[in-house]
Amino acid sequence: MKDIYTLGIESSCDETSVAVVKNGREVLSNIINTQIDIHTLYGGVVPEIASRNHIQNVSAVMKEAIKEANIDLNQIDAVTCTYGPGLVGALLVGLSYGKALSYAINKPLVGVNHIEGHIAANYITHKDLKPPFLCMMMSGGNTQIVHVKDYTDFEVLGRTRDDAIGEAFDKIARVIGLGYPGGPKVDKMAYDGEATINIPKTHFDNLDFSFSGIKTAVINLNHNHPETNKADLCKSFEKAVSEILVKNVKKAIKQTNVNTVVLAGGVSANSYIRNEFLKLEKEGNTKIYMPDVKLCTDNAAMIASAGYYDFMAGKRDEISLNAKPDLRL
Ligand code: KG4
Repeated sequence: MKDIYTLGIESSCDETSVAVVKNGREVLSNIINTQIDIHTLYGGVVPEIASRNHIQNVSAVMKEAIKEANIDLNQIDAVTCTYGPGLVGALLVGLSYGKALSYAINKPLVGVNHIEGHIAANYITHKDLKPPFLCMMMSGGNTQIVHVKDYTDFEVLGRTRDDAIGEAFDKIARVIGLGYPGGPKVDKMAYDGEATINIPKTHFDNLDFSFSGIKTAVINLNHNHPETNKADLCKSFEKAVSEILVKNVKKAIKQTNVNTVVLAGGVSANSYIRNEFLKLEKEGNTKIYMPDVKLCTDNAAMIASAGYYDFMAGKRDEISLNAKPDLRL
């Protein structure tokens, strides 16, 4: 069979990224320009600044991705682009660039759901991974358990009713003075801590999540007892959220009889959470997959991989495709 090359473009938040992927699994290039240093000044992502920086960066990132992949634009089979969910101005930059490119080189445009991209990061890391499986999707904007029935067939079994898990990490980090981006800093801080503090957790009968109460509990504890050891607080928070995640995943396994579980999204880089899921695997009967840490956060290779499966399933988009900030699976 002929090799298929997809070019991926990602700009949904504060990373401008372009990648070239062969047959959905082999990364030929994955250039990521992160704006973290710029947004650190403000303690979080400023949407307007993110959009402006995407505009400044996208051409250079694209040129580098093509050069590193050592490919001619004419060899690209499809231009695959994140069109949601995300910040609308940021999404529009990558999408408009992708639309113009698809028109200029006369190759199909495929709009990709960013969440689908996070799931696909696992196809790059694990060449043997095939649906069906369950995905514990946890990022800065989303937290949901997805039944991935096929490469382009998804059923959301449960989702957060309030904050995404990454938002809770980021907010706690800010309040206890660790700064932005919060998740990796909480992760690091927790290394030296002990999970000695009991943090109240919210559970539902179904597979939904809630992280706003747990976030507020940690913030209040820090406020009312500023003497609390920060490392212990971080580790106790990680323990509490891990218990919620693992409990819901176990319920989803029971409900679906699917016992292959895949982690995805920025928070799946968290070392404590990864370890808790490995413990679940050791209990037996569950196979756990997780993306390479550098593919957990936003990147275009995962978009080119998801785009490959959309393209192979026949998905094609018109040049009129618009950004959808609240796109769901
Ligand atoms: O998937 P992502 O890059 O962007 C979205 O699509 O939302 O996720 C970003 C989120 C942020 O909340 C960030 O703090 C969190 O992932 N994150 C982590 C870690 N690395 C990134 N959270 C916990 N531990 C980490 N090591």
